[in-house]
Amino acid sequence: MSKVWFITGAGTGIGAGIAKAALKAGYRVVATGRNLDKVRKAYRDVASENIAFIQLDVADEAQAQAAVQQAMKQFGRIDVMVNNAGYSLLGNFEQMTRLEFEQQFATNFYGVTYVTRAVLPVMRKQRSGHIMNISSVAGVVGLKHGTAYNAAKFAVEGFSLSLVSEVERFGIKITVVEPGFFRTDLLDPRNVRWPSNVIEDYAAEGKAQAMWSGYHGKQPGDPAKLGEALVRIAGMENPPKIFVAGSDALAMIVPAVEARLHDTRAYEELSKSTDGSF
Ligand SMILES: NC(=O)c1ccc[n+]([C@@H]2O[C@H](COP(=O)([O-])OP(=O)(O)OC[C@H]3O[C@@H](n4cnc5c(N)ncnc54)[C@H](OP(=O)(O)O)[C@@H]3O)[C@@H](O)[C@H]2O)c1
Repeated sequence: MSKVWFITGAGTGIGAGIAKAALKAGYRVVATGRNLDKVRKAYRDVASENIAFIQLDVADEAQAQAAVQQAMKQFGRIDVMVNNAGYSLLGNFEQMTRLEFEQQFATNFYGVTYVTRAVLPVMRKQRSGHIMNISSVAGVVGLKHGTAYNAAKFAVEGFSLSLVSEVERFGIKITVVEPGFFRTDLLDPRNVRWPSNVIEDYAAEGKAQAMWSGYHGKQPGDPAKLGEALVRIAGMENPPKIFVAGSDALAMIVPAVEARLHDTRAYEELSKSTDGSF
C-alpha cells in the first residue's frame, strides 16, 4: 500500500503544494483544515480512495486527537506528518496584546505539539514515520515585526530538534523546513493579523501593514516545487534534520549561521574563562 501523508492547513499555499506533490507521486493524503469545504475544493480531481478530508483546527488539542484517530480508521497508518498550518501576526511587540501574542503561539507552536502528540503513538507502534515541521527563515533569524511569529517558529525548531533525539530510536525521523518567501495567502492582508494597540511613538515609521502587504503576490518561492522537494526528502534513507528552502532563504540563513559561528569563535577564550575548577 502507498504511504499516507497527513497534512495540516492543506487547503491553500504550501500545504496544498505538498499534498498535490504527494498525490502526484502516488501517495495517499489526509488533507486537514478548519474549513473543509475550502479544503475539498482544492482537490476536486482526486480519486476518493486516495484522499481523506478531516476537520482540524490545530489550536484545538481534542480535534488533533480526533483527526489522527479518524485518519487511522480510514487509511490504517500515517507515514508522513506535515505540521504546516499557520498564520502571521506582524507588528511591533508593544502594540500586540498579550492575547494576540498567545494566539499566535496557540496555532503556530502549540498546534504543532498537539498534532505531534497525537501522531507519535501511531508512528511509535509502526516503528516508522517522518514528521516535517514547517518553520521558516523566521525560525532562524530575528526580523522586525516578528517577535510573535519568529518566537513561535524558533520554538518549533527547538521542539523538533530536541524531540528527534527522543524518537529516532523508534524509526521516527524529523525534518524542520525553513522556507523563504513563498507565493501563498500568508501575507494576504486579510489573513495577517495586525496588532491592535495604537502607540503614537511608533506611528512615524508607518504601519507594519504597509511594509508586509507589499510582499504579497511577489514572493519568489513556488509551493508546488517545495512540495516536490519534500517528497524527495521523504524518500531519503537519511533525510536532513533541517532543510532550508529557496534561494532567498539561503541568502538570509547562511550569513546568519556564519556570523554566529564567527562570534562563537571570536569569544572562545572568554567563554572558556567561565569554566569552573571544582
Ligand atoms: N509563504 C511563505 O512565505 C512562508 C514562509 C515561511 C514559512 N511559511 C509557513 O508555511 C506554513 C503555510 O503557510 P502558507 O504560506 O501556505 O500560507 P497560507 O496560504 O495562508 O496557508 C496557511 C494555511 O494554514 C491554515 N491555518 C491557519 N490557522 C489554522 C489553524 N488554527 N488550524 C488549521 N489550519 C490553520 C489556513 O487555513 P484557513 O484557510 O482556514 O485560514 C491555511 O490553509 C505556515 O506555517 C507558514 O508560517 C510560509
